[in-house]
Amino acid sequence: MVASAGVIIDPDRCDGCGVCLRVCPARAFSLVAGRAGLTGECRLGCDHCAAACPRAAITVEIPEPESFAFAGFEPSVGPERRPVALADLVALMRVRRSCRVYRDGEVPLSQLADLVRIAITAPSGTNSQLWSFTIIPTREKMLLFGRAVAAFYERLNRLAAKAWLRKLLKICGRRELDDYYREYYASVCEGLESWRQGSDDRLFHGAPAAILVASRPGASCPVEDALMASQNIVLAAESMGLGSCLIGFAVEALRRDRRVGAVLGIPSQEKVHAVIALGRPAVSFRRPAARRRAPVRIV
Ligand SMILES: Cc1cc2nc3c(=O)[nH]c(=O)nc-3n(C[C@H](O)[C@H](O)[C@H](O)COP(=O)(O)O)c2cc1C
Repeated sequence: MVASAGVIIDPDRCDGCGVCLRVCPARAFSLVAGRAGLTGECRLGCDHCAAACPRAAITVEIPEPESFAFAGFEPSVGPERRPVALADLVALMRVRRSCRVYRDGEVPLSQLADLVRIAITAPSGTNSQLWSFTIIPTREKMLLFGRAVAAFYERLNRLAAKAWLRKLLKICGRRELDDYYREYYASVCEGLESWRQGSDDRLFHGAPAAILVASRPGASCPVEDALMASQNIVLAAESMGLGSCLIGFAVEALRRDRRVGAVLGIPSQEKVHAVIALGRPAVSFRRPAARRRAPVRIV
């Protein structure tokens, strides 16, 4: 056995076909006396060499590997798997709509845990996998989170209401507060009022659960990683019959005020990039979303 950087090659199994040389993004392999050898550095731990080796001659040791044992289903992922029909895949993408009306009742924790496992099948920059997930499984905890978000917007609105402050910041080249005042101040005032009265949850739309997707320090592409994982969650939720809605207002509060994440025990060095409200939808849509034509440049 030849071992290096978590990659183990069994020379008795290797027949020198060279597939590992071609798939390795780091070009870390070469043929040595007709057998694969790890002559370069393996930093990604992407496992492509082991997954592609037709003779199962390579093992990549993954620290703390996820089991991918799902509670609700068993995906067929072996070489015998059928490709997902494109029509089904695109239908899933097209029928997903943001859900803002939920039925009563919790989402089982096992389903939320499955969504996190599905999330981490996403790619990540340099395979860093430096993400983290916070599951909020009950409406009670959603309200706790919501109160912290509302407190943040109460503070922000108090600042934004000061015309002199908006003007001063604008003179200093900082337009954000003035932009916020014009775009959101009035509707946030209304939302806060109905939150205070407990009449209408315009933040989470009454969702009984949420998953927060964050990055941990050191990720090369933290935002992209989190959003790839988030898209997995919303599509998988749709397939499970759950409604979902990204809540940008909550992300903004988490980004700007540590106290908001602290109520959920999120360490200050983690950055939340997506808050995905989840629950059983109370309304079904008769047709998919209309979209404006996107500008496409062919060069
Ligand atoms: C990054 C992001 C942030 C969003 N934030 C909110 C939000 O705070 N509240 C909300 O009700 N919807 C939010 N949405 C949902 C969008 O309004 C919705 O995706 C858009 O109107 C298109 O509708 P559809 O998702 O049904 O296709 C957000 C969506 C994205 C992608």
